[in-house]
Amino acid sequence: MLRLEGVKSGYGGIEALKGVDLVVRQGEIVALIGANGAGKSTTLKTISGLLQTREGRIVYQGEEIQNLPPEEIVKKGLIQVPEGRRIFPKFTVLENLEIGAYLRRDALGTQADLRYCLELFPILAERRQQKAGTLSGGEQQMLAIARALMARPKLLLLDEPSLGLAPLIIQQIFEIIKIINQERQMTIFLIEQNASLALKSANCAFVMENGHITLSGKAGDLAQSVEVKQAYLGI
Ligand SMILES: Nc1ncnc2c1ncn2[C@@H]1O[C@H](COP(=O)(O)OP(=O)(O)OP(=O)(O)O)[C@@H](O)[C@H]1O
Ligand SMILES: [Mg+2]
Repeated sequence: MLRLEGVKSGYGGIEALKGVDLVVRQGEIVALIGANGAGKSTTLKTISGLLQTREGRIVYQGEEIQNLPPEEIVKKGLIQVPEGRRIFPKFTVLENLEIGAYLRRDALGTQADLRYCLELFPILAERRQQKAGTLSGGEQQMLAIARALMARPKLLLLDEPSLGLAPLIIQQIFEIIKIINQERQMTIFLIEQNASLALKSANCAFVMENGHITLSGKAGDLAQSVEVKQAYLGI
């Protein structure tokens, strides 16, 4: 569904991605794990067109999308939930969800997806009239995911959904990620520093170090590999 081939990108004189190759197959949850500063968020920003691809190709459903404007990439169904969530704090939960659907013209489908999101996250239904800035961190993460779902992603890109959240909330969020993947056949590209969690949830995974992919394979196999155990699982 999505393939990166030799992708380089960065910030000014800093080359953060130094030739990244990876594949996301339709229907799967694919994890990208790695330490702080490895280039995970940069990978996501490059896929979604917020950062320029300096070299290499990004192929989505058979079409090269590198360096299309971000809104064109969104229209193709690649929707990202950025690191740090970025919900609109002054708007209500419901308004945030409506903003997620702003590009859609199918009112019935949008209504159905709103019902689906509120069923998936009952806490958001309860708080639908509340300003988003008053939600807890976990609820804001749920809202960020639900808002992305309102855009009907074909490929959902999640940047560290577990960041800064309590274990119980993280568990809930990851269960919902799996439900979305199964019920909606949604393909999910998941960036996580929490390697053990990511490897438990994903079908396959890529390990990133210093702007390169250093390991890849089935998530279950990687979780057993000595390198991953030592470097990322603390075993
Ligand atoms: N806006 C920026 N300007 C300059 N350098 C940046 C910028 N954002 C990231 N970098 C650099 O690019 C490299 C990759 O950063 P990136 O944010 O992709 O890492 P990450 O793997 O997402 O890390 P984390 O787990 O901490 O989120 C780092 O060396 C970082 O310092
Ligand atoms: Mg990051």
